[in-house]
Amino acid sequence: MTLGTKLVAGNWKMNGLRADGSALARELAEQMVAQGAGFGCELLVCPPATLLSDVGRILAGTGIFLGGQDCHAASKGPYTGEISAEMLVDLGCTHVILGHSERRHGYGETDQVVQDKVMGAWRAGLMSIVCVGETQQQRQAGEAVEVVSTQLVGSIPNGAIPSLLVVAYEPVWAIGTGLTATSEDITAMHTEIRARIPPGARILYGGSVNPKNAAAILGLAEVDGALVGGASLSAEDFRAIAGCVRVNAATLADES
Ligand code: 13P
Repeated sequence: MTLGTKLVAGNWKMNGLRADGSALARELAEQMVAQGAGFGCELLVCPPATLLSDVGRILAGTGIFLGGQDCHAASKGPYTGEISAEMLVDLGCTHVILGHSERRHGYGETDQVVQDKVMGAWRAGLMSIVCVGETQQQRQAGEAVEVVSTQLVGSIPNGAIPSLLVVAYEPVWAIGTGLTATSEDITAMHTEIRARIPPGARILYGGSVNPKNAAAILGLAEVDGALVGGASLSAEDFRAIAGCVRVNAATLADES
């Protein structure tokens, strides 16, 4: 993992049976081979736990990273239904998404729970993608920065390791809605986040990123990549989003 290199990550959420996941992974693997020199960014896919083994086998050697969507804080024990960071590593994962709003809001995960999970992920050597973001109501009340700041302070352990930390700013109201934050709002929030995390940690934007808006979002200086939900279920759309990083890099080179 190279700090400074953008990261385009796909969160498949609870989608795909084995045949679907394998087909999608095969398409992604073929695209990587066809791309030759690569996309000029890091690529990561986070399939459901049931697909990690199959997808990991298909993506092996392609350079596409594999990640989990959650993990438990403990390495093992009497936690029915849970998966530890060590188990994710055992399946070839290098990353894990933690504190996604669907877990914070759907399962009542607190900042402390998220922080404990981040510690678990680091113990196993996993890169933690810590998600933060405000609701529509909180934004309208002018509380967005305060909410995100509280989540960051509560979710990121002291002595954070920048090389194992990625923050994903995902405004809750932009997830799966087709709505995206404006470039100005993204830049403003990422600047606030950057001031509150260790230097070198990357900040992704997530929330309805698609091939149409990706170039504008990934072109923002404060944006170190994207966390993509729905559009990551299409290999073609995921490729198009990742391709925007290379286009942007080429544009910047032309301008200099
Ligand atoms: P969508 O891209 O579907 O809005 O989902 C974003 C997300 O939640 C990624 O973690």
